Amino acid sequence: MEFEQTFMNFLLHHQEKHNRTYHFLILMDAILSAAKHIEHYYLTGALKGNLGYANKINVQGEDVMSMDVIAHEIVIHYLRTTGRVIHAVSEESADIIPINEEGGRYFIYFDPLDGSSNVSHGLPVGFLFGIAKRNLKGPEDLHLRAGREYIAAGMFVIPTGTLTIAFREAGTWRFHIDETMNYVKPVRLMLPDSQNTWELSFNATNRYTYREGVQEWVKKNERKYTFRYLGALAGDFHRILTRGGMFMYPAIVNHPDPKKNRPDGKLRLMYEASVVAFMCREAGGDAVDEHGTPILSIKPKDHHQRTALYVGSKPLIEDIAKALKR
Ligand code: F6P
Repeated sequence: MEFEQTFMNFLLHHQEKHNRTYHFLILMDAILSAAKHIEHYYLTGALKGNLGYANKINVQGEDVMSMDVIAHEIVIHYLRTTGRVIHAVSEESADIIPINEEGGRYFIYFDPLDGSSNVSHGLPVGFLFGIAKRNLKGPEDLHLRAGREYIAAGMFVIPTGTLTIAFREAGTWRFHIDETMNYVKPVRLMLPDSQNTWELSFNATNRYTYREGVQEWVKKNERKYTFRYLGALAGDFHRILTRGGMFMYPAIVNHPDPKKNRPDGKLRLMYEASVVAFMCREAGGDAVDEHGTPILSIKPKDHHQRTALYVGSKPLIEDIAKALKR
């Protein structure tokens, strides 16, 4: 029999080695419990009728799925039990959710179930989260944090059963769920230098709606790399982290129906773009927005702010950033 190191054991050692407190362990334990519950509801979702619509429209004007509501409630429940969270930003709530404004220590930004188009098929979706900390040294302004101020960010791919998490200046790590529902076997991820495995990932239907420079970049580069697109950020980015290459969701500016343009991009900065950008940086990669600005440097003005996103291997991000700045 072989026994693998569990995520919690890994984290205990990590906290000890970096002289960190136990507060973060309490928060991570809650996030793990939430992910296991979401995993369970998703796996049984087709049988229990939970993979359909909830007959609700969210703050982004999108149809809400029953699983979105279930996953959101699960996460909020577990965050409340910790006593460590100041407030939470969730894709599923128009307002910031106060939890323990006085005594809390962390801010958490999350999308409990990202990748809606996969839900009715039971195919991979993601639970993404970013964590920032109260300013312990001075006055706390409670402002929303830029990604570079996150202390950790991660994603569960559901129901695949993986957790990928990055800790500030301590790398990006991947764990797999085992038969006892523990996440085990830490493997440190670094984007491969060799271009042999690199992939490009974007919604090809949109390619003629991108601005000229991006369309030209695609034309010039698309034959060099394999193309893969699942339509769920967590799943698509999961591949890029091990294979290298680039995931992008550019701004849509040339749509034949101008109402469908998205000049600010589609993905949400705080709980999608900054989360994957943080993981990518810790794995040796990078991420920029439509202006070539590093995603991690963008300070949100609004907690549901959208952004265009280009994330992946450094040479590709540097190259596209040049095209974006032109
Ligand atoms: O923001 C939600 C999301 O589902 C992401 O997970 C995914 O990368 C993207 O939207 C897919 O969008 P589209 O269906 O337009 O390709």
